[in-house]
Parts: sequence; C-alpha cells; structure tokens
Amino acid sequence: MELIEIAKARSVSGTAVPSGDKSLSHRVLILSAIADGVSTITNFLPSEDCLCTERALRQMGVRIERPGRTTRRVHGVGFRGLHPPQTDLWMGNSGTSMRLLAGLLAGQNFKSLLKGDESLQKRPMKRIVLPLTMMGAEVSSGNKQGNPPLYISGRSLRGVHYTSPVASAQVKSCLLLAGLYAEGKTTVTEPAKSRDHTERILPAYGAEVEIEGNSVTVHPAQSLHPVNAELPGDISSAAYFIVLATLFPGAQLRIKNVGVNPTRTGALDVLSRMGANVEIDSSPYGEQPLGEPRGDLIVRSASLSATTIGGDEIPRCIDEIPILAIAASLARGTSVIKNAQELRVKECDRIKALATNLRKMAVAVQEKEDGLIIQGRHALTAANVHSFGDHRIAMAFVIAGLLAERAASTVANTACIKTSFPDFEEIVSQFR
Ligand code: S3P
Repeated sequence: MELIEIAKARSVSGTAVPSGDKSLSHRVLILSAIADGVSTITNFLPSEDCLCTERALRQMGVRIERPGRTTRRVHGVGFRGLHPPQTDLWMGNSGTSMRLLAGLLAGQNFKSLLKGDESLQKRPMKRIVLPLTMMGAEVSSGNKQGNPPLYISGRSLRGVHYTSPVASAQVKSCLLLAGLYAEGKTTVTEPAKSRDHTERILPAYGAEVEIEGNSVTVHPAQSLHPVNAELPGDISSAAYFIVLATLFPGAQLRIKNVGVNPTRTGALDVLSRMGANVEIDSSPYGEQPLGEPRGDLIVRSASLSATTIGGDEIPRCIDEIPILAIAASLARGTSVIKNAQELRVKECDRIKALATNLRKMAVAVQEKEDGLIIQGRHALTAANVHSFGDHRIAMAFVIAGLLAERAASTVANTACIKTSFPDFEEIVSQFR
C-alpha cells in the first residue's frame, strides 16, 4: 500500500534506460526451461510477474541461476524433463504467467494447480480453457465464469485450427506452447495481429513455425535448442517516458535499447499522428537477437493534437492506452479510444480507472463500453488518485503528476508497479 507523491517535474533531459521486455522475459524462461542445455539470458526483467514464472519453473525441477540481477542461466531439463510440482503454482498478479504456463502444462504427464491474487482471480480464463479442451486437454477453472484457479491434468494433445474471437498474444502463445506437445500441427487465427514474440523466437529454439497473415502454425517438437540472448528494453515501460518527454516543455530525452517490434509500436504511431517528435536510432544495435528489432528513441517535446485510436491498432498499443489517455488529456481537441473493451479485463477495469482518475485531474471524460472520449485541455490539475491495484494505472498517473500544475499529486497503492517495472521510481527520480 505504498503512496507516491509527485510534484511537477524539474527538467526532462539526458538518457533513460527502461528494463528488459516483460513479454520476452516470460517466453525465454519457459522455452529455455524445456530446451536441451543451458541458455543465458541478459537484460532479463526481474519484476514480480516474471519471478512468478521463474519460481513455477523451479518448482518443476528447472535449475535457474542468477549470476546478476538481470541475468538468468537456465539449465533446460529437456522437452519431456519437467517434474510434477509438489505444491500449487503461484502466478501472483500475472496473466501472462498463468495463460502461458497453462499451455505448457496441458501437455505434460502430471497434474498442476495454478493460483493467483485477487486481481488475477477476476480475469477471464475461458479464452484458453475452451481451445485447450478442443486440443484434448483436461483443464478446468475455479468457477462457472471461468476464473482462476486453473486445475490442469496433463495428457496427450492433438493439434487444432483455432479461430480466436479475441486478439490476444496470451491466448495465442498458450496454444502454441501446447501445440509443441500435440500430435499434428496447431494453428491459431486471430481477428487482428497481437504481439508476435512467441512465433518470432520459437525458431531460435529450433521449433518449426509458419506465419500467414493473422494465422500462426506450430509443428510438434521433439526437442528444443538452448539460446543465448540479450533482451531489448520494454517499449511498454519506455512509453511512460516518451509521453513525459513529449509533453514537458523543452524536454529532450534519449531512451536506450527499446524493443521496436512492429506488433508493439502502436503507441509510437498514435503519438506521431498526434504530432509527437520521436526518432528511432537503430545504429547502436547491429544484430537482432531472437529476431527482435531494437533502437534508441530520441524524444523532443511537441504539442499534440487529438486523435482516434481503434481497430487493429488496439492490440498494438493495448498496454499503452493508460499513458496514451494522459497524452490525449493534454492534446488539442477531443480524442476517441474505441474497440478497446479488452481494457475492462486487464489488471483492473482500466476504462473505469482512467475515467475516474482523469476526472479528478479536471479532465472531461466520457466512459464508453469499449473505450473513452477525452477532451484535451491546457493543463492537468494536481489530484490524489488511486492505482486500483494496477501497475499501468499507477505509472500513468505518476507521469500525469509530473506534468500537472498547481500542487503535488499523490498516487495511492503503488506497490503494484513492481509487477512490471521495479526500476520505474528510480528513473522518475531523475526528473524530480
Ligand atoms: C501479453 C499480452 C497482452 C498484454 C500483456 C502481455 C503477453 O495481453 O496486455 O501485458 O506477454 O503475451 P493479452 O494477450 O491478454 O492481450
């Protein structure tokens, strides 16, 4: 139940280095765990969410060394080498841990039980239970609504072609991981393309993947190779500082080593359309480990105009909507965020949380079932707001506080920031 008090930033300049990518950190741990041999991962994100995945893999017999805070040496146990866990697997606040590990566990020859915190207990799991069941898995959730915990009784699986009603990388990755253990190939088709890290990195581990439009096919595997890779920084974490530097007068900031995978750069497209000045400098980075492009982002302050965010762009910026809503609040004109109903089932109901907090900062906001209508204004008024236990709401409003006028703002219940970005406050302290 921590509280952060923030006054207007003093200056925004120099460099900032966001932590390693969260989505990639989960994925490389899981795939390295079932590879034959030792994988070394650097710039790993040691956030609580990723530590849940790490702990669960350890509970299944995987030795994971920590030569440094952001380095992991994973001693893969081989494709069929996981041991039955002796106790429940704790997924904390992490939807990614729960959905991806459920895919891995569905095809093992043992039982497991995946539990989570109060927020995770409210999140929809039917979206994976249904297709995993089609593959022959025995997975059941804690209640009729399909919420956690998840009871998994591992067994032989068969490949299916699943057309998902939601664009979700967690659903897709869950099924691709299960597909590695299935008989026959597994295809997932999405209504719009979600982040493609799993299918991008699987070939580095030796798995066979085909991609056609919004469909991804994985072939069953017998064994995987280990990998050595440095992960790029997380663009979702960088986004807080992109918006801060854009809206703080006279700012110039170089944000180093940011992953710029095109399925993750929706926020850059939105902000450029609004008038932001963000340059990508890829020159310091020669190769692309794991096929993931990266660059430094050079951000200079700019005045923004309103925009509409919707359609296929939403999955490309889904985690950045909270900070984009802050940008929209300080843009000229009325911005519309639509087709973003997924925000209602994130770590909190982010549509409601954004509307509540923005109103406290004197912004006129209309809440819609699938988004928000935000009337931009010249300045935000400092206020006392709440994170609703959601790390991205907490961080977005710390940035709002750095931009707000008059007095200091407070954001209550900020402990959740540790789930994705434990170094956030240290970077913020550069600007205070
Ligand atoms: C993630 C996918 C997204 C995203 C989440 C991380 C992933 O969730 O919001 O923070 O690593 O696959 P959905 O798949 O539910 O859209």
